[in-house]
Amino acid sequence: MALRRPMIAGNWKMNGSGTLANELFRKFTSKLKNDSAEVVLCPPTIYLESVRQQLESTKDSLNGSLVRMGAQNVSQHDFGAYTGEVSAKMLKEAGCNYVIVGHSERRRMYGETSDIVADKFAAAQKNGLTPILCVGESGPAREARRTFEVIAEELDIVIEKNGTMAFDNAIIAYEPLWAVGTGKSATPEQAQEVHAFIRKRLSEVSPFIGENVRILYGGSVTPSNAADLFAQPDVDGGLIGGASLNSTEFLSLCRIAM
Ligand code: G3P
Repeated sequence: MALRRPMIAGNWKMNGSGTLANELFRKFTSKLKNDSAEVVLCPPTIYLESVRQQLESTKDSLNGSLVRMGAQNVSQHDFGAYTGEVSAKMLKEAGCNYVIVGHSERRRMYGETSDIVADKFAAAQKNGLTPILCVGESGPAREARRTFEVIAEELDIVIEKNGTMAFDNAIIAYEPLWAVGTGKSATPEQAQEVHAFIRKRLSEVSPFIGENVRILYGGSVTPSNAADLFAQPDVDGGLIGGASLNSTEFLSLCRIAM
C-alpha cells in the first residue's frame, strides 16, 4: 500500500494580506511537527514575496515540517505579449513549488477550457512546478448523473496531452462546483466515490501512478467536517478556500490531516 503524505493547500483566492502570511507562520512555528501534513500556501501573486520571506525566516523553526508555496494560476505561454499574465518560470523564480491549474472559478469566469488547462499543466511541469489540477462537476451535472463523465473529460485531456506518467509529479484536487464556497461540502461518501474513480482511471494506464498520486478534496472544508472527509481511503487531504484565511482554522485542518 502506497504511503501518500497528506497535504493541506490553502487557496486564498483574491483575499489575504502580508499580515495573514505573518500570522500563519507565527502559528506554524510552534505547532507543526516534522510528520505533519505537507502544507502549501497559495496567496495572490502580489503576496508571494511576503510568504517567501516568511518561509525563509522561519525555516529553522518549523520542526522539519514541510511548508511550501504555490500560485493560483499560470500562463500556458513561456513569455511574450500576454498582458497581465505570469509565466511558470517567473513563479518558480519567485519561490513557488506548486501552482493550481484549472480551478473552477477560472474555467467558469475566465473561459479556461480543458485544453488550455492541459497546456498550463505542461507549462508548470516544464518549469519545475508541480501542478495541482482541479476537476469537478457542476450541480446540474451531478443531478443529471454526469459526474464521472465530466471528471473523465477534464482528466483525459490532460492525460492525452501530457501522458499518464506526468501525474508522477502532480496533485489532483476534486472540487465539486456546488460545494465551492457554498458551505455545503460533499459528504465523505460522495468525495470517496469520485476520488476512487479518479484513482482507478489513472491506475488503468499505470497502477503505480494510480496508487501514488495524491488526490485532495476541496469545497467547504472546515475543521468540523474535515476529519470524516480526510479519513476516506482515497482522500489525501484538502484544497481549502475560506478556512485557509483563518489561521486558527487552517492550522487545525493541518493537524487533522495527519
Ligand atoms: O480551491 C479551494 C476552493 O475552491 C474551496 O473553497 O471556500 O469552499 O473552501 P471553499
